[in-house]
Amino acid sequence: MNRRRFLKATGYVLGAGALGLGGALWKVQPRRQWLPLPDGDAARPEFATTRRRVVVVGGGLAGLTAATELAARRFEVTLVERAAQLGGKLTAWTVSALGEQFPVEHGFHGFFAQYYNLRELLDAAGVSGDLAPSPGYPVLFGDRPPETFGHTTRLFPFNMLSVVRQSHALHLGDFRKDGDGLYDLMKYDGERTFERFDGIDFARFAVEGRINRPMVETVLEPFGKTTLNRLERLSAAEAIRFFHFYMMGNPEGLGFSYLRRDSVTAIVDPLRRRLEALGGQVRVGKGARRLERDGARIARVVVDAHPSPSPRLVLAAADVGDRWRAVPRDDGSSVFVRRRGDDLVALDGRCTHMGCPVVLDEDGFRCPCHGGRFDGDGRPTAGPPTVALASLVARRDGERVVVGESAPAGEEALACDYCVVACEVRGLQELMRRSDGELSAHVSGLGEADPYVVWRLWLDKPTARERLPFYTTSRFRFTDSLAIYSAFQEPFVSWARRTGGSVVEVHAYAIAPDAMVPAPAIRAVMWEELLRLLPELAGARVLHDEFQQQSNFSRFAPGDHARRPATTTPLANLMLAGDHVKLGPPAALMEAAAMSGRLAANAVLAREGLRQIPIPTVALKGPLA
Ligand code: FES
Repeated sequence: MNRRRFLKATGYVLGAGALGLGGALWKVQPRRQWLPLPDGDAARPEFATTRRRVVVVGGGLAGLTAATELAARRFEVTLVERAAQLGGKLTAWTVSALGEQFPVEHGFHGFFAQYYNLRELLDAAGVSGDLAPSPGYPVLFGDRPPETFGHTTRLFPFNMLSVVRQSHALHLGDFRKDGDGLYDLMKYDGERTFERFDGIDFARFAVEGRINRPMVETVLEPFGKTTLNRLERLSAAEAIRFFHFYMMGNPEGLGFSYLRRDSVTAIVDPLRRRLEALGGQVRVGKGARRLERDGARIARVVVDAHPSPSPRLVLAAADVGDRWRAVPRDDGSSVFVRRRGDDLVALDGRCTHMGCPVVLDEDGFRCPCHGGRFDGDGRPTAGPPTVALASLVARRDGERVVVGESAPAGEEALACDYCVVACEVRGLQELMRRSDGELSAHVSGLGEADPYVVWRLWLDKPTARERLPFYTTSRFRFTDSLAIYSAFQEPFVSWARRTGGSVVEVHAYAIAPDAMVPAPAIRAVMWEELLRLLPELAGARVLHDEFQQQSNFSRFAPGDHARRPATTTPLANLMLAGDHVKLGPPAALMEAAAMSGRLAANAVLAREGLRQIPIPTVALKGPLA
């Protein structure tokens, strides 16, 4: 072959190779897509033309989404929420501190670009203006230099390679001896992934898949913990799906936005206004007590302004004195009983803000969830609760005292053609237990993740100027992330500018039962960890703080998937929504809530023969599936 022919042949081979490679690369790139709609969907009517009443139970993102979508289709929607404010885990409340009023939330919220359904909801309510893009995804380590992710190319697999290239701790050589674990992470394949990996936890999966330690400690551990589940209790299949959703399965990369104002002002209030503008009724401070059936359908949702009635408790009269006595209940709360003169008085120990169990302290009662306080008679004195602890009937019966056998007055039955239950796991299980044995069994496989802590501090020293809004942290005893509110959100930015101080928040995502210690000990450790993370705060004084400890995130443990209920239920007119519901497409956290709300709305629309809502999703399978 002469030189010219040789060059020509080489050119053909290289060109074909490049085309083949390009084609293969094009094929594996993740893309935004839409769930298939039923045949003939476009020809169906869009709006309900006959009167159809829907009661949505739970005013978090899932409930707000379902309610808004159905109100937009001219259903007669009533949304009931037990708390005084909508929003669920996205809610905020006001605290008095240092002579001013400040909003406080359940913790920092990151809005990722692939939260497609949530973003469509926010856009429709006109709230996107409060979202600001974060300049990267930094991780601070207890034992090595920080890493910042998020500045990667979007092209798979170069995005994975650029994570390795950007990192101080990762080296390509570390991957030489890896087993199949990383490969499996890139092969998310819906139910097949669950069949293979739902039986083991992610920590064990990483060991058995021989994923190198630097990769686990630098990338997988810090990001995996943001599921709010411990890796030792997190299903490997759920973790694969989670990484697929955030890293490999979307074309947007790891970029996220944060809120410039508190979540209620920025998001929840506009969503509520939109729902009401569409004709939806919002009833806050109304808890669903039970669902009433008429054969195989839900006919009514019974609501009440009080906490649900307490089951009857009996104790020895000799045990009831002049001081409050706590009598534990099955749900983790207590009933408090005492004598007052010749009378007996009893209080329901569930906080009237969002139902957390209150505890007795020297000033009365304290709620650990959002810092609510009640005086010794159960009247609210500080924090979010505005309603006194509910009084229960207590009577003497010979040598016994009987408490809580009467139902509080004020029940109201809301008739419905459809019911969407969108409470978090505990509320859902309680509601179903009070309603019906069959429904209770249907949701009994769900659970809550371990407790988490959110601790916000007002300090008299500033943080360093170059600080970013939010950091994930790794290899600390409690602290899993850190948000510097005085760097990004009003009114904290202005307060810090005026006073020269700072407002920071530290989070512990899921505290194992054997690691749990009393709140003062958690605070002591987290304070010491905060000073290691932000050494410029050494010597700072805490001017005010808000400490929350609660457990209301959904559990994704090995084996849960098979028992997880879907959006539809055995009853044709009862739908479920929330991030605990089994979703076909991959989604997590706030996007899972919004998507589940839309799926529940679609189930209603399907029953009515109406056109469905197109549901966007990240790629349904991993690039190597
Ligand atoms: Fe929020 Fe008690 S549940 S303060």
